Amino acid sequence: MQISISFLISTLIASLEAQKYMINCFYGSWASKTLKPQLLPQGINPNLCTHITYAFFELTGSGRVNRHEHEYATLAAFSKLKSNKGKPKLIAAIGGPSVKAEQFTAIAADEEARTQLVTSVAMLLRDYSFDGADLHWYFPGRRFHNEDKENFVTLLRDLKAELNENGFISGVTVSGEVEYAARWYNVSQISPNVDFINVMAYNYTSSIFPVFHAPLFGETSHVEASMNFWIAHGAPAGKLNLGVALIGRSFKIKILKPELRTTTSGPLEKTTMAPVKETTMAPVKKTTLAPNVTTTPFPRFNTFTQMCIRGKNKSAHYHYIPRVETAFMIEGNVLTGFENDQSLGAKMGFVKKHSLGGVMIWSLENEDFLGRCGLKFRILRLINTLLK
Ligand SMILES: *[C@@H]1O[C@H](CO)[C@@H](O)[C@H](O)[C@H]1NC(C)=O
Ligand SMILES: *[C@@H]1O[C@H](CO)[C@@H](O)[C@H](O)[C@H]1NC(C)=O
Ligand SMILES: *[C@@H]1O[C@H](CO)[C@@H](O)[C@H](O)[C@H]1NC(C)=O
Ligand SMILES: *[C@@H]1O[C@H](CO)[C@@H](O)[C@H](O)[C@H]1NC(C)=O
Repeated sequence: MQISISFLISTLIASLEAQKYMINCFYGSWASKTLKPQLLPQGINPNLCTHITYAFFELTGSGRVNRHEHEYATLAAFSKLKSNKGKPKLIAAIGGPSVKAEQFTAIAADEEARTQLVTSVAMLLRDYSFDGADLHWYFPGRRFHNEDKENFVTLLRDLKAELNENGFISGVTVSGEVEYAARWYNVSQISPNVDFINVMAYNYTSSIFPVFHAPLFGETSHVEASMNFWIAHGAPAGKLNLGVALIGRSFKIKILKPELRTTTSGPLEKTTMAPVKETTMAPVKKTTLAPNVTTTPFPRFNTFTQMCIRGKNKSAHYHYIPRVETAFMIEGNVLTGFENDQSLGAKMGFVKKHSLGGVMIWSLENEDFLGRCGLKFRILRLINTLLK
């Protein structure tokens, strides 16, 4: 009796806690090697993600998945993140920045290489208890091979056929840049040939003023435009994951609007990224995001933890622009855009409003995984709560 009651209660709790949105957390395997402090798979809290994606598996010229001996231990530890109830689901990201666009062009165009790719991906998934794969071709058409557009679809079709047949899911990760997507992604053909689509709605570089890397709204590249592109072209909203990057992106500012210097927003309170108050900053004009800000062209990237630690410095000032739902920090002449509670609240609201599939989180090693600024994985906890 005792057992069945506690079983009932735990089942009830489990069902109450069930997350209906996909929370697809990426794990950069370099976090187990070169990153300091390192993040091993054992250090990941698997309860905060419905899916965890291992990035990246590169490919040989003939299309086979590369396996490195030095990664076997990490992979074995990674596969243990899955409970005996099969949660979270584990995904293998295939491709990434180290696989040249030319290489994908050649593989996608060649039937034999495509077959080699899909069979070796299926074998990889079986060997390490993965539940699916996610194709990262950065990016079709990069070298203006017109045939990439169609071959991309063919490759996705072959991959999904092979993986679904073997009980695996098959997804894709795509650029968030709308102009690029309009030229190179055939949405109506891609959508039925994948189980999910991660849209990298961050790290925008095509803006005239690349100051904020992932504003939800605005005149330049922004998250709403990226997601709406896929929805408007017929992708089922339930397959779309909104990409959220837990990075701060910094630019040196040459000319700063006087309002930004004289704002009254103080340094970060306490030690967390707790809600940042709206600033008394003068309203941003409608036509441009930052008319009087010029930045150096090469951005610097910061992990969330670095941001949070630097935020304790009295000379760091936080700002929030509700109109574009973006947070940023000013330190001297450095401006860093980042996600805070408020911007994430707005983005998760967007996910719910449009009944998207969920979110893609880039990435676990950018989180505060040691709890140096408060709760461990505080941002992921927040995202889980916001998506309830
Ligand atoms: C997508 O592909 C289909 C089939 O090849 C084609 O008819 C259609 O015009 C393509 N659409 C775009 C936007 O490229
Ligand atoms: C952002 O884009 C730059 C190139 O502009 C690239 O080097 C970097 O890896 C990207 N970062 C993420 C998190 O995608
Ligand atoms: C920046 O704005 C100030 C006043 O807001 C103006 O005096 C100055 O000329 C502007 N600088 C540039 C480069 O537009
Ligand atoms: C605080 O910020 C100032 C100005 O940006 C910088 O010079 C100083 O080194 C920072 N202090 C710490 C402890 O990071």
